[in-house]
Amino acid sequence: MLKGKKILLGITGSIAAYKAILLVRLLVKAGAEVKCVMTPAAKDFVSPLVLSTLSKNSVLHSIADEGTWANHVMMGRWADVMLIAPLSCNTLAKMANGQCDNLLLAIYLSATCPVVLAPAMDEDMWHHPATKSNLDKVISYGNKLIPVNNGELASGLYGEGRMAEPEEILQYLVANFFRGNSLQGKKVLITAGPTYEHLDPVRFIGNHSSGKMGYALANAFFLSGADVHLVSGPVSVTHSLTGIRLTQVQSAEEMYNACMQDFSNTDIAVLAAAVADYRPGEIAAQKIKKTGDTLDLHLVKTKDILKSLGEIKRDNQLLVGFALETNDEENNALKKLASKKADYIILNSLQNKQAGFGVDTNVVTIYGKDGSKHSFDVKPKDDLAFDIVNLLNTKQQ
Ligand code: CTP
Repeated sequence: MLKGKKILLGITGSIAAYKAILLVRLLVKAGAEVKCVMTPAAKDFVSPLVLSTLSKNSVLHSIADEGTWANHVMMGRWADVMLIAPLSCNTLAKMANGQCDNLLLAIYLSATCPVVLAPAMDEDMWHHPATKSNLDKVISYGNKLIPVNNGELASGLYGEGRMAEPEEILQYLVANFFRGNSLQGKKVLITAGPTYEHLDPVRFIGNHSSGKMGYALANAFFLSGADVHLVSGPVSVTHSLTGIRLTQVQSAEEMYNACMQDFSNTDIAVLAAAVADYRPGEIAAQKIKKTGDTLDLHLVKTKDILKSLGEIKRDNQLLVGFALETNDEENNALKKLASKKADYIILNSLQNKQAGFGVDTNVVTIYGKDGSKHSFDVKPKDDLAFDIVNLLNTKQQ
């Protein structure tokens, strides 16, 4: 998500500095190169050793260290974004007045990259007119502000002033600085996850789909500039970026309705959900009791969403399905491509342990109705999602 992006994280003296540790981890995990610079007060709250270990870079904290001069001008030029999180009341005041009594402030004043601020302070400090006026000033200089949250504060009070959570900060950076535009203006519909077909108020028929591939695709399309609508079955671990429209559904019928409603307005639809093929004929109003030695279920076919969209698809729409096969894979995938009138079928094989449900990697072959065949080596689902987006992008102009 942030591969190749350079983020300079400024940390100031605030209890919320502990969140900088999580933030560094999150940014590095998202692929960013992170360098940290601390004010002297920040070192009372978080250890430079932890930050340097997690960021894999030495932590900067003084203008001259052991006889060497820290080149503050080059730091602000190195970074794609300078993020100050947490921003204390004191550093905010110094920034508002152009003071320069530590390395962080020197870098800030010489930074040519965008600067993003995530303040953290107690509610009464946050609401003080001096803070308000300092904030207005630094915003008027062109700095961007990530709003504080409401919640429990270090003082034990409850109110405004909590620093935004690391995940929210990551999302802010992605949405505001690192989103491409190759698919700008395109509307994309994605389905993801399993469906749950209820038997009674407490039981359902489901499957092992984690939703990871669909969510990775939604993020990759969004990061390429598209407007994304993600229709997701029940998933636990995955998350989508702020800015992606999320419709949560349970059953195949609900997923069908959400897709049908949106499809006429869609340029590209990629159906990655593992939709149940059958559902109970009736949902029992009460919990089914254990009466006999066996229990027969009467199941009826669900609507095939991909096939239904294939029937109504216009020539200028791209429709892509997945095929999960355990045998005669290529043949089955090509049959699905034709019978569902899709433009592409992405085949993933359950025979490969690095592909399919639950795992973070996938191995796929993409078959086009134009006779094309693209094979991809095993790779993380996040990376594969970008390959799929790039392939479809060349077909959808
Ligand atoms: N699909 C769908 N609606 C269904 C069933 C499947 O939209 N009711 C979509 C899936 O999201 C996937 C593609 O159809 O993109 C193929 O799904 P898959 O389960 O591999 O195939 P099925 O059509 O269900 O056929 P089978 O289970 O017999 O292989």
